[in-house]
Amino acid sequence: MYYPEELVEEIRMKNDIVDVISGYVRLQRKGGSYFGLCPFHNEKSPSFSVSGAKQMYYCFGCGAGGNVFTFLMNYEHYTFAESVKALAERAGVALPEIEYSDEMKKRESRRQRLLEVNKEAAKYFYYALRQKEGEQGYRYLTGRSLSDETIHKFGLGYASKYSDDLTKYLKSKGYDETLIRDAGLCSIDEKHGAHDKFWNRVMFPIQDANHRVIGFGGRVMGDGTPKYLNSPETQVFDKSRNLYGLNFARTARADNMILCEGYMDVIAMHQAGFHQAVASLGTAFTSGQASLIKRYVKDVILSYDSDGAGVKAALRAIGILKEAGLSGRVLNLEPYKDPDEFIKNLGAEKFQERIDAAENSFFFELRILQRDYNLKDPDQKTRFHQEIAKKLCTFEQEVERENYIEAVAERYHIGFDSLRELVRSYALRTGMAKEVIRPKSGIQKKNTPEEGAKKAQRLLLNWLSEEPKLYPKIEKYISPEDFTDELYQKVAQKLFEEIKAGSVDPAGIIGLFEEEEEQREVAALFHAKLESLEDRKEREKAFHDILVSVKTYSYQYYADRLGSDMSALKQMIDGKKALEELKNTHISFE
Ligand code: UTP
Ligand code: MN
Repeated sequence: MYYPEELVEEIRMKNDIVDVISGYVRLQRKGGSYFGLCPFHNEKSPSFSVSGAKQMYYCFGCGAGGNVFTFLMNYEHYTFAESVKALAERAGVALPEIEYSDEMKKRESRRQRLLEVNKEAAKYFYYALRQKEGEQGYRYLTGRSLSDETIHKFGLGYASKYSDDLTKYLKSKGYDETLIRDAGLCSIDEKHGAHDKFWNRVMFPIQDANHRVIGFGGRVMGDGTPKYLNSPETQVFDKSRNLYGLNFARTARADNMILCEGYMDVIAMHQAGFHQAVASLGTAFTSGQASLIKRYVKDVILSYDSDGAGVKAALRAIGILKEAGLSGRVLNLEPYKDPDEFIKNLGAEKFQERIDAAENSFFFELRILQRDYNLKDPDQKTRFHQEIAKKLCTFEQEVERENYIEAVAERYHIGFDSLRELVRSYALRTGMAKEVIRPKSGIQKKNTPEEGAKKAQRLLLNWLSEEPKLYPKIEKYISPEDFTDELYQKVAQKLFEEIKAGSVDPAGIIGLFEEEEEQREVAALFHAKLESLEDRKEREKAFHDILVSVKTYSYQYYADRLGSDMSALKQMIDGKKALEELKNTHISFE
């Protein structure tokens, strides 16, 4: 949904960031800002700062930052449109109705009806579990150590022995047979009419991330087959884009998600306090599910069965995770087969220990690979090492690849240099990776001239945003082009425009950037720590110094680009003149 820019701005203005964040984090005033414990990482002393004047937040610990929309997007995992909507509601701003075409209206109302009928069915199963007829189901679930609270939380239910009573009930509620069939809840047979898909089973409603029931899994209460019966895919049930348990896991506030295979596993883990557990829906893990997870966390812990099929599924999942840019680790639950059994036998504390000890997915892959080779045989050992080298080539980032070479060499007792050589020759042969060059140690990113320049640019922009009245005094010396970093240049452009128009609004500037990474950087920029100097003369000197370093770097920057950039010459000449003048000018704050 696209909202007009002015409306988005209005909504932002009407939601004071200090008020909004106070609803989530305990904030204490400190100078011009508020501080609290950062909700985006674990910390003991507050480094999370919220500025009312700038309408921004920034964490000096983890670098999270942004405006009020960004906050909700990160905290509640809302999309941008969702956070606009939530804040509009909070401030009582009316949002325009979406205009649907007739076709869309029809589809949308069909979706709504399918969701409704699913919800009605879930309520029916839930109720039945608590009736006399549902006693067997209830006993089955409690017999598997589920508490009443857990049964309630997951909305578990019971489908009775009769094979048509759900359909009858739903029809009595006014839903027609075709809708019930399209929801996957019954099938229609010409001779015998409609009969329920699920009967004589305990029922697991499957919810989407917003707690809406989109389908069901039903388990036999004992040893029958199929063990689980699942709803077919429908207009509201896409098995490749939903995960069982995600509606709870999305707000679990763990920095990982545990991915497993079974409904019962998810439930057992949640009951034991591992609210970050999710499962795929009776089908193999997909890239759609990986991107779903990526909205919430970067680290996935895989808990698949340790048998052949489980290992194969885990290897597949690792590949999908990697492609999505997620890191994977693999849980070892030996001697138990799944999380449910493990927790039942050894408890939550031991389970946590296994999580902490989960194996890096690369080493897991190597360990599985190793099974195919007899390392006592020199030929096979060599081939194994070659396979390792080949796998190491898949790390595109040099530092990462180097780190893995180092770790693998140590673990498999291969000489570091010879393994590196093997990787290098393999990479060159296949063109898979650039030549490996060991990064020179000792040079840290922070000390490069670029970083120094960026720092001065940040300080200057932040200073001007706090004291816009200084801008006219330096306007003739400085232009957005002096901010050589592309992002800073955009910020400078906008900031200077705002200063000239008489209203500075850093939080609005954040809105110019779409990528979360950029938004963080802008927030960081506007939280650049200015020295708190009391004395006016000292402040003037500090300001002058910053200005001169920005100009000096800018001059250098354009001088270096003379041959390749047409505008560089003018920038350089102007810059040199301004710099010389500036060096001999005193800028007074009075
Ligand atoms: P498992 O066979 O590992 O069962 O199937 P489980 O989760 O441990 O179940 P319990 O503990 O015996 O009750 C894992 C998942 O595979 C799907 C289901 O989603 C199940 O949770 N599955 C399994 C089916 O869809 N159909 C089946 O017949 C079996
Ligand atoms: Mn199980």
